[in-house]
Amino acid sequence: MMQPQASSWQLPPAMADTAAPMDGAFHFIFWFSVVFAVLVIAVTLLFIQKYRRQKSDQRSGKAEKGAPTPSRNKLEILWTVVPTLFIIVLFHVGFSAYIHNVTAAEGATEIRVFAKKWSWEFEYGGGARSPDLHLEVNKPYKLILSSEDVIHSFFIPEFRVKRDAVPGQYSFVAFTPTAVGEAHVFCAEYCGTNHSAMLAKVFVEEPAKHEEFLASFGRKPKLCGTPPVECTEEKWGESLFTEKACFTCHGTGGDGKLGGSPSPGPKLAGIFGHDQPLQDGSTVHVDENYVRESILKPNAKIVAGYANVQMPPFAGSFTDDQLEAVIAYIKSLK
Ligand code: CUA
Repeated sequence: MMQPQASSWQLPPAMADTAAPMDGAFHFIFWFSVVFAVLVIAVTLLFIQKYRRQKSDQRSGKAEKGAPTPSRNKLEILWTVVPTLFIIVLFHVGFSAYIHNVTAAEGATEIRVFAKKWSWEFEYGGGARSPDLHLEVNKPYKLILSSEDVIHSFFIPEFRVKRDAVPGQYSFVAFTPTAVGEAHVFCAEYCGTNHSAMLAKVFVEEPAKHEEFLASFGRKPKLCGTPPVECTEEKWGESLFTEKACFTCHGTGGDGKLGGSPSPGPKLAGIFGHDQPLQDGSTVHVDENYVRESILKPNAKIVAGYANVQMPPFAGSFTDDQLEAVIAYIKSLK
């Protein structure tokens, strides 16, 4: 098993196949820049010395005027073509490393990455989400990123991958972890007060250990209540309703009451299958689609009398099957 390649004074340890091409590009561009910076500074110093004001000028009190420089086509072509070639080479080096980071290997395992202020969540296909990223060593992965609020940037320095998570669209990163160990996810796009705390851990595990993780987490059955027990769709929805604090606005069990007075949000119990009057004078038939839309985009259809109430959008707070569980729960409220 490969150990993480040791970090250098410039770079953290390399733990994925994406690191080598990126480091190659980095070092090439770095040393290229160093060589030319030294060259340009050296020539500048040389010319300062060589063409400085001479003693003879000081005596006569006037500077000697040089002859006008004749145009030299060959020289001009040379200093245009050579840097252009350099730029083509630099572009090629950078672009080939970049392509390596966005092209997924055949049969790569997909993981959904959800970014929001200010945390990361990872879904492995079981519906449940983990706050940390668990990966199997030497297995190709494709991460599908999305954001539910503002632009974040998914950055794993040890893998040399960085990609923006943009609201309303999907972006991708692909890599194969090559060393067992721990790496770190950072947010690399300033996204508000807790931007610097938007962190997650990456665990690159041996196949057996990773299988254990998936068995215990990624494919776990629906659990709810304390202590957690396997439960039905409606029960799960109920625990999510509590967990996401929906009752603080809609009342316990969605009864529309809070401490004896009407709750800030509309009543949910008993509305399913009936018509709901809306603020604009129309009515809507309460079905799965309406409930779903109201959770994801609360302002799409405003219940009559609630124009001044702002419900936070829950788009991204629920996985699809969690959303279905909540809908099932609301449907069950009589
Ligand atoms: Cu998310 Cu910075």
